[in-house]
Amino acid sequence: MKIHEIKQFDHIVIGSGLAGLTCAYHLAKSGKSVAVFTKREIDECNSRLAQGGVACVVDELDSFDEHVRDTLYAGAGMCDEKAVRAIVEGGPAAINEIIGLGAKFTTRGELGHKDDPASCDLGREGGHQKRRILHAGDITGAELVRVMVETVQKMANVKLFEHHIAIDLVVSRRLGLPGANRCFGAYVLDIKSGEIFTALAASTTMACGGAGKVYLYTSNPDVACGSGVAMAYRAGAKIANMEFIQFHPTILYHPTIRSFLISEALRGEGAVLKCREKRDVEPVEFMQKYHPMQSLAPRDVVARAIDSEMKRTGEECVYLDIRHHSEETLRARFPNIFAKCLEAGINMAKDLIPVVPAAHFVCGGIKTDINGATSIEGLYAVGECACTGLHGANRLASNSLLEAMVVPRNAAADIEANFEKLKDIRPDRHAAMNWTTGNATDSDEQILIAHNWDEIRRFMWDYVGIYRTSKRLERAKNRIKLIRKEIEKYYWDFIVTADLIELRNIATVAELIIDSSLKRKESRGSHYNADYPFLDPDLECVDTIIQRDVRSM
Ligand code: SIN
Repeated sequence: MKIHEIKQFDHIVIGSGLAGLTCAYHLAKSGKSVAVFTKREIDECNSRLAQGGVACVVDELDSFDEHVRDTLYAGAGMCDEKAVRAIVEGGPAAINEIIGLGAKFTTRGELGHKDDPASCDLGREGGHQKRRILHAGDITGAELVRVMVETVQKMANVKLFEHHIAIDLVVSRRLGLPGANRCFGAYVLDIKSGEIFTALAASTTMACGGAGKVYLYTSNPDVACGSGVAMAYRAGAKIANMEFIQFHPTILYHPTIRSFLISEALRGEGAVLKCREKRDVEPVEFMQKYHPMQSLAPRDVVARAIDSEMKRTGEECVYLDIRHHSEETLRARFPNIFAKCLEAGINMAKDLIPVVPAAHFVCGGIKTDINGATSIEGLYAVGECACTGLHGANRLASNSLLEAMVVPRNAAADIEANFEKLKDIRPDRHAAMNWTTGNATDSDEQILIAHNWDEIRRFMWDYVGIYRTSKRLERAKNRIKLIRKEIEKYYWDFIVTADLIELRNIATVAELIIDSSLKRKESRGSHYNADYPFLDPDLECVDTIIQRDVRSM
């Protein structure tokens, strides 16, 4: 057996989105060594694409109670109220901190408002009764990631490993003995050299982001493969509420421009959704049939309404109409979206914007407390891969960047407080498996991986999407069982490549979504099963927990 190299750090963070970098920053402030592993370049992450902004109570006419109320309403009876309150109340300090590090939010003055020009402009999005979204134009995520990348790059004790993908966690199985149920780090593949090594640390924080790539249509970038949830599940951590996949209602519908989000902030500025009843007929509003908040209803309601209108009319998309604003206003408020639409031949001030729903956000994930602590000692999770209880069955818009800024601060404090206990790093196995490594790729491997990848994404879209039935879920379960078997076989037969690791993670997460959906025998928030179309009051706040039995391993 090949003995792989071992690298040791005080702390490991896997993922370099806003949550991961915020966590790395706070961990490193104590002077300890922090390794950040990321699959691509440091700023290649889902947070970077967030357009809308950060929901935070900063206006004196707003209150924590109202933000909590809106979050609980959108979450459809599945939020953990204590976690919601703690995260909402942690917002202002996190915002002040990132402003102190150099983040620039759009001010009212920049948008031509004469009153109170120096304060931050506050946008509105679906489900929010108040304007409370701080934004940097329509590229808020990119601005926040820029600041955190620059910040951690200046810290000598943070080592950034780009093009490094974690394969699995190093966990101790000494059942009943001290150190059981303990995470000591991860096995990592250096994608460029093809070498695998073992990274050991007192704490390991998963900050691997979402899993949009499980679906054929998604707003997420290629890196969003659900790797955090998949690795934590394989390690035996509790995984919660994976049936709650949020579909964003408005992704640009275009033959070549893929996955481009048309921010809900447009609807916050008065854009309305319209649907064409028949070809050559002017599209008309429809959301009044579905919810009193109409186009600004919570996202799950809007996505289902669009799906149902598209099926009813046979149309391939619906439209957003924001033509009541001038070109000048739209260019100032939504510069990035305006430019992208122009590239697609659409002038938002004159034309309707064709949109469709697509997979956007995983509301469930690795079960954690408000400090990001998981059910495995030494293992933390932050950001989209975690399930803190904030989002419930349907995330309130722009609460995710808030969570990505607040929870990592708590996690770093909790890790620091427990460091004396965690620093005893004695795994019972630390050499990486006898994987064949190298970056040569076999063409058979490539074809099989591409085929499986495509098949999973298609049937997840068709059978486990916005509209589910028990029969569709069962069909998906049968398919995924077969594919998972095939993948486990390649895994031991082929060279371990980043593509294969991602495929394995996608398949694990797909199965977790299917199993969780089958378990929830009701419709709630973003989970709709036509065979159980109603909400079951007895299931309110009852998490769907899936945990792998690792006792015999
Ligand atoms: C958007 O800008 O519509 C997305 C914001 C979010 O997902 O919270």
